[in-house]
Amino acid sequence: MSRFSPRSDFSRTPNALAEALTRRRASQLPLLDLTDSNPTRVGLPSPDVGLLRTPGAMGYAPEPAGLSSAREALAAHLSRRGGALLPEHLVLSASTSEAYGWLFKLLCEPGDDVLVPAPCYPLFEHLARLEGVQTRPYRLPLAHGFGLDVAEVEATLGPRTRAVLVVNPGNPTGHFLHEGELAALADVCARREVALVVDEVFSDFPWDVEEGRVDTVAGRALPALTFTLSGLSKVVGLPGLKLGWTHVGGPAAARDEALARLEWVADAYLSVGTPVQLALPSLLAHAADFQAAAVARVRENRKRLSAARPAGACWDVVPAHGGWSTVLRIPREPGEEATCLALLDAGVLVQPGYFYDFTGGAFLVLSLLTPPGDFAAALAPLTRVLGAAGEGGPGPSV
Ligand SMILES: Cc1ncc(COP(=O)(O)O)c(C=O)c1O
Repeated sequence: MSRFSPRSDFSRTPNALAEALTRRRASQLPLLDLTDSNPTRVGLPSPDVGLLRTPGAMGYAPEPAGLSSAREALAAHLSRRGGALLPEHLVLSASTSEAYGWLFKLLCEPGDDVLVPAPCYPLFEHLARLEGVQTRPYRLPLAHGFGLDVAEVEATLGPRTRAVLVVNPGNPTGHFLHEGELAALADVCARREVALVVDEVFSDFPWDVEEGRVDTVAGRALPALTFTLSGLSKVVGLPGLKLGWTHVGGPAAARDEALARLEWVADAYLSVGTPVQLALPSLLAHAADFQAAAVARVRENRKRLSAARPAGACWDVVPAHGGWSTVLRIPREPGEEATCLALLDAGVLVQPGYFYDFTGGAFLVLSLLTPPGDFAAALAPLTRVLGAAGEGGPGPSV
């Protein structure tokens, strides 16, 4: 047997829920899937920009940080949301996930660590591990609706911490960063000489108006070296096109050094396709339509969910302000996995909170991108199973 790196030694043992799902699918019994957040599969609008017919699409004139024309279009698009951005402060990659890998190469030695929010979509542990980097979770307190606690972040910093990762708004928790929190966080990062990495993939999807909310960090004069990440997979709902971006900001000397080094990393891969870069202006022109349709879908499903909750139910919809998911707090007994299995038996697929590293209670996660017909049809079995789960138990206080 050849020898392999422990970095690639991921568990391949399916959990009880995955096994039950395989059995359910094999049985061909109906299933209402409330876990699908693939925007290309839920009936939302997408553009036909004839990617491969774009003039020059078959040419190849690579620029490591991305074609200037694409970065200019992107800078103009992003500047509408915040401060004036410069194209030369943007680096294109094939996805946000790839950009994380590049940032870990830029900032960390093997054995260094980065701070990651918990609960959160389970992305960072794998990406960091593949670069030989550790993750140190900082807890998002339920008491704040899973908002950021800057004191908790600072207390979690270790001697080998190189970056603090923030997801704004959180996935799946849907809580936005607020101005005061950003100022305090940037100050901690500057003082402790760690980079601030802000993931804004869901920031175009707010559900309401909130005083003091941070819509974007890109283009602000912050005291810490700051990387702001997003990409087409959420902004226009087209993950298959493979284009993400990183905006680099902060003190000029650190920013320029980071950009020079990132360009070198990007040059080693040259991973973004020419057609998608040339089509970027047309794709971004479609962003507003997609975002409006997605937010309308999410609002409608969430409203239906709240309306279906019986008064005094033993479960609750956790307050949130944006994103594509919603979190339910459910009774600790019988707990997440048993409730997911009971729901699967009733023909409804949801995710348990432990997929996202929730602690301090029991939680379920539902995709609000689900087609409205399926979502509505799932509500009767959902409320029945959740009601039965909580019989005799105390209701959660959220
Ligand atoms: C918070 C967050 N960031 C990044 C990603 C990955 O995005 P990309 O498709 O650009 O790699 C995801 C995926 O769902 C996500 O939830």
